[in-house]
Amino acid sequence: MTNADFEKLVDTSDEWIISRTGIKERRIADADMFGSDMASNACRNAMEMAGCSPEDIDVLIVGTVTPDYRLPSEACVVQEKLGLVNAVAFDIAAACTGFINGLTIARPMIETDPTKKCLVVGCEKLSSITNYKDRGTCVLFGDAAGAAVLAADTNGGGIISTFMKSDGRLGELLWQEIGGTKNPYTPENVYNGRDKLIMSGSEVFKVAVREMSIASEKVLKDAGLTGDDISLVIPHQANIRIIDALAKRLKVDKSRVFINIEKYGNTSSASVPLALDEANRQGKIKPGDYVLLVAFGGGLIWGAALVKW
Ligand code: UT7
Repeated sequence: MTNADFEKLVDTSDEWIISRTGIKERRIADADMFGSDMASNACRNAMEMAGCSPEDIDVLIVGTVTPDYRLPSEACVVQEKLGLVNAVAFDIAAACTGFINGLTIARPMIETDPTKKCLVVGCEKLSSITNYKDRGTCVLFGDAAGAAVLAADTNGGGIISTFMKSDGRLGELLWQEIGGTKNPYTPENVYNGRDKLIMSGSEVFKVAVREMSIASEKVLKDAGLTGDDISLVIPHQANIRIIDALAKRLKVDKSRVFINIEKYGNTSSASVPLALDEANRQGKIKPGDYVLLVAFGGGLIWGAALVKW
């Protein structure tokens, strides 16, 4: 969907969306395509790139807040689609931070047993929980999936340091109030759009800039590095102004920050792996480079991971 498409839906403009968010287009999955389909496609591409087969995968971790079902988990659905017969599969509901939390959980599994291979995925069908009558949120979100295979590296690369944090007191700044056991779906709630994502954008914005900066500085400090050592920052793609503010605080030139928000909008847990994959396939990451991944999302929850490629 382009910004012009939204001009027909709500009271907005291409100029407002680009200047306030940096977004020009987002991808919307067809009605018969679900998170597990997108995740499976991303996983197949990741396994192909890593040169491994479904039987080689020991752990599948899926970050998502828009699973196909409540039960079984999205990870078990993807496991079945891919034939990961030797794996344990489980979900993480950490919104936009799901992929980074997945990396953080997979890391000690591989450190403990270097023969293990972990597949970490972020996938979202955010169009299914977007209120297309609310101009404050509908222009932001898109559907996507991204995946990575993690394995022990004998050349000195790896996940160097990680940080995770959340603040449940701020949960109602970005939430889906209706649809759980506490407030089930009713015709009235659905009619009023209360079953969709609700966000207090400007408040989330301020916390996002502050906490993504703190998380980034923490993983750099733990690794004994500074912003100067980073070859590429891959931030969660929620808003170009958040990314700009983060780069400024970290004193990292924009040329070392990967941005693809204009094509996809905010894809929550898929955002970081999608950007990581694009950056990698475009040859922007070389062996030995330090890459900083950082994300922030509904929970509120945030985290960072410093990777030596
Ligand atoms: O991924 C998880 C984390 N999520 C985020 O990090 C998102 C963080 N928040 C944001 O990115 C921004 O807050 C938004 C893009 C959501 C909104 O930008 P903003 O600069 O914070 O705008 P605002 O909410 O303060 O609204 C400013 C004005 C309001 O009008 P009035 O009250 O000043 O007349 C809004 O009604 O902009 C209006 N507005 C719009 N106008 C045209 C809000 N959405 C739109 C729109 N088109 N789509």
